[in-house]
Amino acid sequence: MSPCSGLLIRHAQPHDWQRVTAVMPQWWGGRDLRVMLPSIFFEHFRTTSFVAEREEELVGFLVGFLCPTHADEAYVHFAGVHPVWRRAGLARDLYGRFCEVARADGRRSVRAVTSVVNRDSIAFHQRLGFLLLPGDLEIDGLPATGEPSVPEGAIVRFELRLDDLAAPAAAPEAATEAATRQTEGRG
Ligand SMILES: CC(C)(COP(=O)(O)OP(=O)(O)OC[C@H]1O[C@@H](n2cnc3c(N)ncnc32)[C@H](O)[C@@H]1OP(=O)(O)O)[C@@H](O)C(=O)NCCC(=O)NCCS
Repeated sequence: MSPCSGLLIRHAQPHDWQRVTAVMPQWWGGRDLRVMLPSIFFEHFRTTSFVAEREEELVGFLVGFLCPTHADEAYVHFAGVHPVWRRAGLARDLYGRFCEVARADGRRSVRAVTSVVNRDSIAFHQRLGFLLLPGDLEIDGLPATGEPSVPEGAIVRFELRLDDLAAPAAAPEAATEAATRQTEGRG
């Protein structure tokens, strides 16, 4: 059974901003990063951003864009999954959809960053095949880069080469009603 059975996954809309930012502190374990995700992302990057819902409850999201400066790159700005729904493949599915949109636009790589303290995010990105990019610092053995916009002051940078991906991880349709089978024990 697909891990995302019973979910509606669709492109983000402006009205999603409020509900996404309402859950961020809890989903990020108390870290408050909402200032880094203003509502303009949900206005201007709808076609490269996704939300996942179960019976109208928000269970996941990804906000990304096609980089206007570097024509071969796309960038995931934020992604989050409801704690109850983690380790079920939902973020992998959302990244797969984003990668397909990026690939269709001729992008050859996807970049992302995360705070150096966010070990879950680092492990997740590495599991998806992202490589750590060099930084100007080393923190706990990780290549880090000073970044004053995050509370901890340092990030790690990732890159996924789309050429290296064997097969798309998810369909790129604008709005996909997942299979009607229910995922037991969740929601
Ligand atoms: C990071 C996050 C988005 C992962 O979401 P998820 O839906 O649980 O991830 P998936 O289930 O799709 O996992 C994909 C792969 O990564 C692995 N993975 C996910 N979280 C992991 C963790 N904490 N440690 C190690 N591996 C992990 C999974 O085991 C899976 O591997 P597999 O497919 O080979 O079995 C989620 O933990 C989250 O929302 N964290 C808080 C917000 C955050 O930090 N966002 C990222 C920075 S913007």
